[in-house]
Amino acid sequence: MKNKITKAILPVAGLGTRVMPLTLHQPKAMIGIVDRPVVHYVIDEMISAGIKEIILVISPRHSEFKKYISYLLRQDPAWRKIIFRVVTQKTPLGNGDAIFVARRFIKNEPFLVGFGDDLLADINPPLKQLTSLFHKIKAPILVLESVPKKLVSRYGVVKIKKAGVHRDIYQITDIIEKPSPEKAPSNLTVVGRYILTPKILEEIKKLYPTAKRGKELYLTDALKTYLRDVGKIYGWHFRGARFDCGSKIGILKAQAYFGTRHPEFKKEFKKYLKKINI
Ligand code: G1P
Repeated sequence: MKNKITKAILPVAGLGTRVMPLTLHQPKAMIGIVDRPVVHYVIDEMISAGIKEIILVISPRHSEFKKYISYLLRQDPAWRKIIFRVVTQKTPLGNGDAIFVARRFIKNEPFLVGFGDDLLADINPPLKQLTSLFHKIKAPILVLESVPKKLVSRYGVVKIKKAGVHRDIYQITDIIEKPSPEKAPSNLTVVGRYILTPKILEEIKKLYPTAKRGKELYLTDALKTYLRDVGKIYGWHFRGARFDCGSKIGILKAQAYFGTRHPEFKKEFKKYLKKINI
């Protein structure tokens, strides 16, 4: 198996019910943050990590992404170096299915997954840090963020033990999707960024009978059986800024963060924030 990460799956087919009515007329990943849609930031995160091929997983309702990519390919030379693939997720069966439908482009290589509603920012490009950690440990690795205990029920939550490789790297011993604060094994939650190996696809495949019973296929459930039957998974406690753009407050925080850093708008925006007593 290759060690270098060149491919990334970018699922953007989510319905965005938590941020309605923003998603009444546009997909969640097309919501604008300052002057670009969320998906643009995610693609730039991937490009900064040296990704060469991006597989977008879209819903059949959303043709906007193809138009957006063609537009950007004319504007941005860095985007022109990327191979873009677009795969349709026919039914909204969950994020495990979104990854599985992109499998034909993955072949036998480790790959990155970046959910189209999470944004990360740091002095060093976050996904570059993640890929170099993968090169060291050579096992699946997830990005983790600590959140106040009352918020854990929005995310996948991990049980960890020290890995002894690096201060912020843990070995994951269990993972639970959206537990109540009482049942959560920690307050370390999974951010929508993962480096996975092709073996995870076999674990996702095993979940399809549960989808027949009307349940969504969560990547978390495949990671759980991977931990039990296949091998080790690590977590990287990310200390930079993370925005959950699947929530209204996350979108608002991202606007403030990127707005106060935007080369064209930061000066005027900060002046305005002062004027309104912030
Ligand atoms: C998904 C994952 C969850 C993860 C989250 C990060 O949940 O299932 O484990 O913590 O992304 O954003 P969703 O946002 O699709 O509900």
